[in-house]
Amino acid sequence: MVKTPTVRDGTALSVRDLTVSYGRAVRALHGVSLQVPRGEVVAVLGANGAGKTTLMRAISGVLRFHGGLVTGGHISCAEARLTKAPPHRIVAAGVVQAPEGRRVFGRMTVEENLRAGGFHAPAEVRKRVFDLFPILAERRTQRASLLSGGEQQMLAMGRALMARPKVLLLDEPTLGLAPKMAEHIARTVAEINRQGTSVLLVEQNAALALRLSNYAYVLDVGEVALEGPSAELAASDEVRRRYLGVSDEPAPVFRTRRGIAKWEPTAP
Ligand SMILES: Nc1ncnc2c1ncn2[C@@H]1O[C@H](COP(=O)(O)OP(=O)(O)OP(=O)(O)O)[C@@H](O)[C@H]1O
Ligand SMILES: [Mg+2]
Repeated sequence: MVKTPTVRDGTALSVRDLTVSYGRAVRALHGVSLQVPRGEVVAVLGANGAGKTTLMRAISGVLRFHGGLVTGGHISCAEARLTKAPPHRIVAAGVVQAPEGRRVFGRMTVEENLRAGGFHAPAEVRKRVFDLFPILAERRTQRASLLSGGEQQMLAMGRALMARPKVLLLDEPTLGLAPKMAEHIARTVAEINRQGTSVLLVEQNAALALRLSNYAYVLDVGEVALEGPSAELAASDEVRRRYLGVSDEPAPVFRTRRGIAKWEPTAP
């Protein structure tokens, strides 16, 4: 890993022309470029299979464990080139991921999970995590598998914060959570950012991600199809139609048949 500055001041994370394949058959990313300016929240939106998780895996260095390979392009943060670096170096450079699907250690306690994220973390880092997520302090001695989905997400984020990231990578933090819990997670992401951590946020909940972020990219089949300031994307007809589910056409009406558990569109 090169220790010289590799990206211009003010950029926390930079991805240039990134191409990723899984084996010979699947080219998951083609020439993806994006920037996370220091202190900002940047969102990556896109449908299932668009390549969002692949992008996160490539940045955090775990791609090889999923059978993937960076075949072109560069990833760098303020201090270092990260392309193809091993995960521990990437964490040491300040880029830390809370992975898709939480991936907490179910048989370990909340406390042990947090220690796994940053064994040598000073007391103030642990305090920051417990201040952000008081429920984790309450459940400190409980096995992680007994937490709810939302609490496990908090633990996954808390574990990532224990490594004192400059850039926090969040892969679908609200997936599968009830709206109220999703809002709570989103508010906490905003607070983490307010405290100075840059965030790269992958989300399928486009409305929430655009509210939370300064700038957003839309991935479509492995390419950046669209990018811009989040407020502009949220106001764009194309984004509203394709990604926010807002349409100028009348919403389809569904009608049930009494006694039959089946939904049927009305005749035109
Ligand atoms: N380990 C793997 N081996 C082979 N192909 C993979 C692997 N992981 C992902 N892919 C493929 O790469 C493409 C991008 O997948 P990826 O998981 O990055 O998408 P995603 O945007 O995160 O989707 P989702 O919204 O469902 O999480 C898809 O075609 C997927 O089938
Ligand atoms: Mg994914």
